[in-house]
Amino acid sequence: MTIRNIAVIGSGLMGRGIAHVAALGGYRTTVVDISDEILHKALHNIRTEMDKAVSLGKLTTQQKDQALSLLAPETSLEKAAQDADLVIEAVPEDMKLKVDAFSRLDRIAPRHAIFASNTSSMSITEMAAVTHRAAQFCGMHFFNPVHKMKLLEVVVGLETAPETVAVADQVGRQMGKEVVVIKESPGFITSRINAMIGNEAFYMLEAGVASAADIDKAVKLGLNHPMGPFEMADLVGLDTRLHTLEYLYETLGDKFRPCPLMVQYVRAGRLGRKAGRGVYDYPAEKKA
Ligand code: NAI
Repeated sequence: MTIRNIAVIGSGLMGRGIAHVAALGGYRTTVVDISDEILHKALHNIRTEMDKAVSLGKLTTQQKDQALSLLAPETSLEKAAQDADLVIEAVPEDMKLKVDAFSRLDRIAPRHAIFASNTSSMSITEMAAVTHRAAQFCGMHFFNPVHKMKLLEVVVGLETAPETVAVADQVGRQMGKEVVVIKESPGFITSRINAMIGNEAFYMLEAGVASAADIDKAVKLGLNHPMGPFEMADLVGLDTRLHTLEYLYETLGDKFRPCPLMVQYVRAGRLGRKAGRGVYDYPAEKKA
């Protein structure tokens, strides 16, 4: 099956990154969100990232212009999905929101269209069950920032057909990604390990074991991780991380119980880089 048109649902941290690599991969890409203002911000961000890549010599001006010409913002799910060959969903990590979006999409998208969720932890099978195309449903779990991170986890649900996995794998490679194919299980490989480390770091911070900066420093210099757990949590978004942990706690048990300090940060609106403040402060992001 040949994929030409991709609809990306949600233009937040992940959706705009997925739209970015989809357009660079040569796909006609429609990116959907709930307001023009949010979409404007997302497109501005994509353009800025592409300009940076041009100035670093990683992209030619022609490649940038070609990719931007393939990108279209859209507030109507109906319009975006009506001629899509592949729909990639990146709305917040909340099963109800995802299921609502997929049941609407199932009524609009062409019969041949493949559906994929960028969920970082939740059940692909549960989402697929609200559609009439469970065999054409899989997870495509990208990483943040999408244009820089090499990995794509393709997640196979109970009824996902091998042809669907082959298409997701092919599209992922066309977007410049290395692909691993995994059987559905909460948090897949990466989110399960990452959420565990990040949660433990918060428990240590709460207990006063060390400062956030020293916990990050120890994990980077002693364990050779490229980022500390708090730097990573701020990049992911504390609200997104909390949603993931709540799901892992519900499905895999007590070892994933979200640290109360993280819950407090989320309540305070300290959501990470995107909010200008998380565990650390990001004055430049706040201004933007
Ligand atoms: P985000 O909060 O930055 O963006 C979500 C976007 O979806 C927002 O712009 C929101 O306005 C939009 N939205 C909400 N309902 C919508 C609807 N019905 N139709 C269209 N747009 C809608 O969230 P983020 O971080 O981009 O996460 C999205 C998904 O990607 C989640 O499932 C998350 O778990 C997953 N993910 C997140 C990663 C991260 O590092 N933040 C990494 C990998 C996966």
